[in-house]
Amino acid sequence: MAIKKELLDQLASRRQKALTSGCTEDKIAARHAKGLLTARERVTQLVDEGSFQETGMHINHDVRGFGFENKDLAGDGVIAGLGNINGRPVTVISQDFMVSGGSLGSRHAKKMADAMAQACTLGTPIISVNDSGGARIQEGVKSLAGYGQVFRQNVLASGLVPQIALIAGPCAGGAAYSPALMDFCIQLKNNSNMFICGPEVIKAATGQEAPLDQFATANAHATVSGNVHFVAEDDKHAIEIIKKLLSFLPSNNLQDPPNRLSSELALERDEGMNEIVPEDGKTPLDVYQVIERLVDANEWLEVHKNFAMNMVVGFARIDGIVVGIVANQPKAKAGCIDIDASDKAASFIMFCNAFNIPIVTLMDVPGFMPGLAQERGGIIRHGAKVLYAYATCTVPLVTVIMRKAYGGAYIAMGSKDLGGDVVFAWPSSEIAVMGAEGAAKIIYKKELETATDRDAKYKELVEDYREKFSKPYQAAESGIITDVIEPAETRFKVALALRSLMTKRVTRPPKKHGLSPL
Ligand code: HXC
Repeated sequence: MAIKKELLDQLASRRQKALTSGCTEDKIAARHAKGLLTARERVTQLVDEGSFQETGMHINHDVRGFGFENKDLAGDGVIAGLGNINGRPVTVISQDFMVSGGSLGSRHAKKMADAMAQACTLGTPIISVNDSGGARIQEGVKSLAGYGQVFRQNVLASGLVPQIALIAGPCAGGAAYSPALMDFCIQLKNNSNMFICGPEVIKAATGQEAPLDQFATANAHATVSGNVHFVAEDDKHAIEIIKKLLSFLPSNNLQDPPNRLSSELALERDEGMNEIVPEDGKTPLDVYQVIERLVDANEWLEVHKNFAMNMVVGFARIDGIVVGIVANQPKAKAGCIDIDASDKAASFIMFCNAFNIPIVTLMDVPGFMPGLAQERGGIIRHGAKVLYAYATCTVPLVTVIMRKAYGGAYIAMGSKDLGGDVVFAWPSSEIAVMGAEGAAKIIYKKELETATDRDAKYKELVEDYREKFSKPYQAAESGIITDVIEPAETRFKVALALRSLMTKRVTRPPKKHGLSPL
């Protein structure tokens, strides 16, 4: 007795159809010629060999009419299932542009939503590849409803499992909101675009000429809108980014991140760190040089690299412990916190807190960005997001004040009073309500008005103020910082702090949810 051969043949033929998206070799070759992988190749190259268990390979479309009666849409235009990446289970969703343009019909949507719902119960990160012409026009309102289900699952998964979106083709209209609801967005440099309204709609509605490369490409999103966190050269590069990103993340909010603790702490000084601080207070420090010396070799992944470059954020390991780094970059906009930098920092901090990743803050900040556009644009509301994000944190917060720490921006950047557990200051720190030049004009207004040589008096008073506040000892004496340390001691002091904070547990009174400024 053996199973009938025709049954096995039927299964093999069905599988083959799904594996090729029902396409001819020519169509696949044309795609390769564009430098793109197929939806299935994306999945197989992403997960460990042989680890993918697909769900719903045989699902077909639910279109009535439009000549679809005799048409098959392989998998209804999307591949979904569970696979392993470096041995860790992940949920993968990959829209298949070769099947009716990856358009989203009701079954396609259900497949995506079900995969995400399962990810929430299993605690597996979600990786979703977007390559779709959007709502399947022939299914009408059913496909819109499908989007609703997808968005809802994105929201239910938020904070439970990490969600990574890859924009690997068109992602138009409301479809862009699924990636926007996810934690990290990677976009292919070529052959992809993401927008709510395309050039024709913009032209019809407003009369404006809006070429795609000005608002929809990876470059536009990574530098201007901030919708995209990483730009990938091609599919292969995107897969590398996804793997590197996952290497820093826990699979879900109940796990610790994948620390690689060494059995002994390397408590070594790093004299080179002392060399990084420019002697002249007006020369900006390059925070990348600090990060490079602070983190373990090859253990740094910058997030949102080309957006709001006055704020640097990224994942790293310090003596094996996974951390999120949040740093002012004085080389861009003097390190001021503006609207975009606020949004960038706040969302990164919230992600770290949700997924148990300690935050190391490197502070050199002259203040929130002054300017009419900033005030009118809502720097109050946006800056408040940074305050809110830090104050909400229950993960360990270690802060290093390197130089300037002025005013509200000092408080915002992981200060002790906002919840910082350990706050170190270098001897070059200036912790003050504002810079000496501005402060002297205000507090010595009367003296300056009556001074015979106003300029000389002003210089003297500025120096007097600077002498009082250009050192961290007033803050140290008040107990608002933990310690003053040499830059050379930073790496081991931070590593030691992170180790000692690993057992940190905070319980807050239950509430439905807080209300972060938006
Ligand atoms: C049904 C679609 C489709 C769609 C593409 N196709 N988009 N089918 N519904 N939305 C099909 C095409 O008919 C074609 O089918 C195949 O996919 C490939 O499309 P082409 O146009 O030949 O490919 P290309 O020239 O590369 O252009 C790709 C494209 C274009 C730029 C994506 O197809 C396009 O503009 N599509 C419409 C985009 C759109 O307006 N979508 C609706 C967005 S609104 P065959 O059978 O010939 O292979 C939306 C609302 C969501 O999504 C709201 C959520 C709340």
